[in-house]
Amino acid sequence: MTEPLVVAGRDWANDADIDSPEYNAHFEEVTSILAAKCPVARSEVGRGYWIASGYETVKACSQSSDPFGSPGGVQPNADPDHFVSIPQELNPPHQTRWRQLLADDFTPRSVRKYEAIAIEETNLLIDEFIDEGNCEFIADFAAQLPGRTFFPAYLGTPLDDMPRLREAVLQAMCDPVIADRQKGYAKLSAYLEEHLHRREQQPPRGDMVDKILVGVPDNDGNPASFADKVAVVTNFTVGGLGTTTYALATMWYHLATHPEQLKRVIEQPEIHKQVVEENFRAYPGVPATGRTLTRDYELAGRTIPEGDMIMLNWASMCLDPGHFKDPLEFDFDRHITVNPAFGTGAHRCAGAHLARMNIATALRVWLDRIPEFTIKPGTQPVFTAGIVREMYDFYLEFPAGGK
Ligand code: HEM
Repeated sequence: MTEPLVVAGRDWANDADIDSPEYNAHFEEVTSILAAKCPVARSEVGRGYWIASGYETVKACSQSSDPFGSPGGVQPNADPDHFVSIPQELNPPHQTRWRQLLADDFTPRSVRKYEAIAIEETNLLIDEFIDEGNCEFIADFAAQLPGRTFFPAYLGTPLDDMPRLREAVLQAMCDPVIADRQKGYAKLSAYLEEHLHRREQQPPRGDMVDKILVGVPDNDGNPASFADKVAVVTNFTVGGLGTTTYALATMWYHLATHPEQLKRVIEQPEIHKQVVEENFRAYPGVPATGRTLTRDYELAGRTIPEGDMIMLNWASMCLDPGHFKDPLEFDFDRHITVNPAFGTGAHRCAGAHLARMNIATALRVWLDRIPEFTIKPGTQPVFTAGIVREMYDFYLEFPAGGK
């Protein structure tokens, strides 16, 4: 037991719950308080878990797989037989070999190759609703764009399969019944397994899928199994879609509710990159992911036993007042060198540049056609939280036909 830290009737130091309605409703407040006052919190939910918070504490925990191991997964209280994501659930050096194999496909230069697809898909999506003068931004735009770029560009899967892939990803990440998230993984990996089998029979295209089909050896020198290859494609798919959807949603939500900042974004396209970067920080879409202790370990005066899960609270790095001045302010002029919204350490996000490109491109194209937009009166988007955040029912209004 440590000093209680009560927000919304819950003691976040000793009885935290990142899947609770209180966490969702008071996300910024809880996160900021944990960052400033509670380097290690405890949750008694299910088998129990710990939460490491604050810029320096989380960064230090993320630097080493001893004792903060990745095998064991990222989700607290997951089924021990849960679908294992690769590279997420491997430790270096095996994890590093997968990352190195695919690194070239996700550099700023590589992702720029797909800008034309992002422009075209943004325009096609806008065409569908611009004459109506309104849209439900998530279903009509944000949930579609990331997959429309990723699936054809990286995996070569047919566009018609997008809706069911997206549904499976959502279930894997956010099903309110945690045990049912495995069903989402099962649907997705079954689809991707079939896709990899098909691709094995086809001539190489020199893309990411070809590299995954070759794979990397494990630490004993054994070649990658087919199941591991499916786990890699699944990890990139799950990791990339819902997260980018949420970042698009918060970017548009912020601009729709801050007309003076929207005006500045329209007038100064040269600041788009830093605005997109600040959006990742101010609205962290992956609040926390877990590590499993490989031995007993003392952290900030609390002993965490071997085998327990500790959540690395990335959101608390983003909102730590000790690192970012006035962290709850959305500051267009903030200079962010390393954005903790993408994590720190060996598992730092593999797709950050792709997310940046997608959102900056969508913003440019959208503002050119629909510079004025507001939240539809009488509606309010719904937020959810857990290890990832999501937004639903986000209705926008704008002049029919655009500008
Ligand atoms: C706004 C968008 C995104 C956010 C906020 C985000 C956030 C994160 C975070 C915080 C981690 C670190 C997890 C950890 O250390 O436990 C991570 C890992 C990862 N991300 Fe992202 N991500 C985004 C977009 C993407 C995209 C577009 C892709 C790929 C298409 C992607 C693929 C991955 C993969 C494969 C990992 C695991 C890396 C490893 O374990 O080595 N992410 N992401």
